Amino acid sequence: MKGLILSGGRGTRLRPITHTGPKQLVPVANKPVIQYAIEDLHEAGVTDIGVVLGNVGREAIQEFLGDGSQFGVDITYIVQGNPLGLAHAVGCAEEFVDGDDFVMYLGDNILNDGITELVDSFRDGDYAAGLALQHVDNPSQFGIATVDDDGDITSLVEKPDDPPSDLAIIGVYVFSPAIFDAVAAIEPSARGELEITDAIHLLLEEGGAIDSHVVQGWWKDTGKPEDILSANRLVLDDIDASRDGTIEDGAEVVGQVDMHETAVIESGAVVRGPTSLAADVTVESGTYVGPYTSVGEQSRLANVQISNSVVIGDSDITTDEAIVDSLLGRGTTIGSSAEMLPEGRRLVVGENSKLRL
Ligand code: G1P
Repeated sequence: MKGLILSGGRGTRLRPITHTGPKQLVPVANKPVIQYAIEDLHEAGVTDIGVVLGNVGREAIQEFLGDGSQFGVDITYIVQGNPLGLAHAVGCAEEFVDGDDFVMYLGDNILNDGITELVDSFRDGDYAAGLALQHVDNPSQFGIATVDDDGDITSLVEKPDDPPSDLAIIGVYVFSPAIFDAVAAIEPSARGELEITDAIHLLLEEGGAIDSHVVQGWWKDTGKPEDILSANRLVLDDIDASRDGTIEDGAEVVGQVDMHETAVIESGAVVRGPTSLAADVTVESGTYVGPYTSVGEQSRLANVQISNSVVIGDSDITTDEAIVDSLLGRGTTIGSSAEMLPEGRRLVVGENSKLRL
């Protein structure tokens, strides 16, 4: 069984963060989103992994993952170029898959419980495909499946106006090589994409059995800033406090605080978990961090109160205003203009930024 991680896509809903890098490298609890997919595949015994690259941040993904050896896997890169749909991405991987079964994992998705049960269930039967499903409140926004008592899929429809069930197809699929003929036979949908749901539907029409597994733990598609913050909260809820760094006397540290050994919490600072502080982060006196906050490497926080936020890294946050519910891109500087005239905010803001002052 091989693995396929899809990392194309333009990441438009995460701009401006995705102007300079792919969404799959945005950190959740100080770990890039794509690393969760690699770890889940590895845990399910899948180590021969193809990573499908789009046009955004191709080099950055290759630089981060390398040949995969540091994650215990073997990575092959496949260039998709323009993102023309999930089924198009699958088609690009035919040579790599080379007649094997494979797990396809959307590179911006995070699952709490991993994928082992889905993969094992597919392996135990004679299926054309296997789908991870989850009950959702907004079924019109997903591919939707109906299943029989054995968990076999009986129908599939992409983003229906009138959903036949609340079981959404989420970001992990297992396929037999039969999917490649199906992908070659479908036409682009109304949104101009080759839909994977249409290809799976064709497998079903041709009499293929499609397995399903309803995922019990949480699942997040990290396409939007609020999804990143929500995934960050969910991952931090399960984090083990390492507190490996330096906590000076007079600092107040409460709850689960995961700290790199080079992070420093100075005397007079307050850090409340769950929170993650990466390498070379300094939390200076008079600063409050947490809960549900991840601070990326080489960042300095001074005077600020920050909570429910992700600071990606290399940042200098010294404003005395409170920052909440925020996603701050790499290299952000937020200072104070309190004693400058004329009074007011002083901003250098990238394209497609969103500020609430
Ligand atoms: C895609 C699939 C859809 C699935 C969803 C999961 O939708 O087409 O069936 O439910 O991923 O995130 P997209 O995110 O491309 O709109």
